[in-house]
Amino acid sequence: MRPTPPPRTYRVKSFGCQMNVYDGERMAELLAEQGITPAPEGEEADLVVLNTCHIREKAAEKVYSDIGRLRREDGTAPLIAVAGCVAQAEGEEIMRRAPAVGMVVGPQAYHRLPQMIADAVEGRRSVDTDMPAETKFDVLPARRKVGPSAFLTVQEGCDKFCTYCVVPYTRGAEISRPYSDLIAEAHRLVEAGAREITLLGQNVNAWRDESNRGLEKLIEALADIPQLARIRYTTSHPNDMTEGLIAAHRDVPKLMPFLHLPVQAGNDRVLKAMNRSHTAESYLRVLDQVRAARPDIALSGDFIVGFPGETDAEFEDTLKLVEQVGYAQCFSFKYSPRPGTPAATMDGQVPVEVMDERLQRLQAALNASQLAFNQASVGKRCTVLVERRGKHEGQWLGKSPWLQSVHFTGEAAIGDLVEVELIEAGPNSIAARLVQPPHG
Ligand code: 5AD
Ligand code: SF4
Repeated sequence: MRPTPPPRTYRVKSFGCQMNVYDGERMAELLAEQGITPAPEGEEADLVVLNTCHIREKAAEKVYSDIGRLRREDGTAPLIAVAGCVAQAEGEEIMRRAPAVGMVVGPQAYHRLPQMIADAVEGRRSVDTDMPAETKFDVLPARRKVGPSAFLTVQEGCDKFCTYCVVPYTRGAEISRPYSDLIAEAHRLVEAGAREITLLGQNVNAWRDESNRGLEKLIEALADIPQLARIRYTTSHPNDMTEGLIAAHRDVPKLMPFLHLPVQAGNDRVLKAMNRSHTAESYLRVLDQVRAARPDIALSGDFIVGFPGETDAEFEDTLKLVEQVGYAQCFSFKYSPRPGTPAATMDGQVPVEVMDERLQRLQAALNASQLAFNQASVGKRCTVLVERRGKHEGQWLGKSPWLQSVHFTGEAAIGDLVEVELIEAGPNSIAARLVQPPHG
């Protein structure tokens, strides 16, 4: 590659999960610290970071076509960095296949971007997919300006090795960030404008500090920050839902009544083949305990249809479970073989038409469940954290405690916590009316 002038502007494009969104924000902050500024809307950036996801579909192929699209008519291209899980999984392969790419950086190494950019400026391409002993969190710049709802990564990696999943390979083993670092970062987020913090981790409820305190201790400590109004956490594994964490849903009012707890399937043979190490029944038991602690809790989950060997009857068990739980919202996916995972080479790969049909049926059931949940909240009064303006004059958008998207019109500002009454439910959002503070 030829030497290039130092980039003055950047654009970070993040795909996939919220952890990638968080990483994307941190990379942006790091670039800003180097004096590189966000490219104005509609203008080409000197440096484009593709922060990729490898969890499903033809993610790697998508990266190559995205790279191709960045090429200009004269054959040149901006400086391109491939980050995220495809970078981790493909590393050198990206360098070979895509000469336009200047650097490839994995999710544990992106704090080294400034050096990699300096190398690229001198005409040297670089790959860094190390999982270094020093953590990126120690060297990343402090958070400066955030919206009312901010993410905080507290845990990374996964030791569960579900047989379909690439995460243990791309994100590495489970590690928890130290308690005191997290408290300090939370304080900075609040000072920078956050009123809600969502704690993130591939297995967030596996977080443990040096003295083996669990996530509820962190949640309790965050609840003591006066200006912080709301706390959430995602994504959890059923086996790590400890009594202490469940009790926090009863005891900590700032912990929002929402739990994302993926189950993946409703049939025990399939769950075993997935190496989920829980059954449908043990999952439902956990939900019962959570509901006992916080009766109004909104439940969410992830599902995979068409795992290798899944029969029609086994799929029906998933529909039964959906019926039993009454989810507030969910994500559902067709199984996608991930290179290097055990399930990718299992017998009984399910034809795509069968997966399509199952996904349609599952999504119809999940949509109905979501609408029913939303309809049941009509008439309730609750707070909404105002996140942005709506399309219409005077309209505001925000989230209810149950993570529903709520819209209303009236006097408000971004970052306000307003009291509303929910008045009309749609499948994906709820109309609300501002409750005026009482007179006198
Ligand atoms: N195919 C389809 N869905 C997958 N997920 C993870 N790996 C795969 C795969 N190979 C889904 C799971 C997980 C969510 C983040 O992505 O449902 O909970
Ligand atoms: Fe993947 Fe399973 Fe770990 Fe979740 S728990 S990240 S699905 S291996």
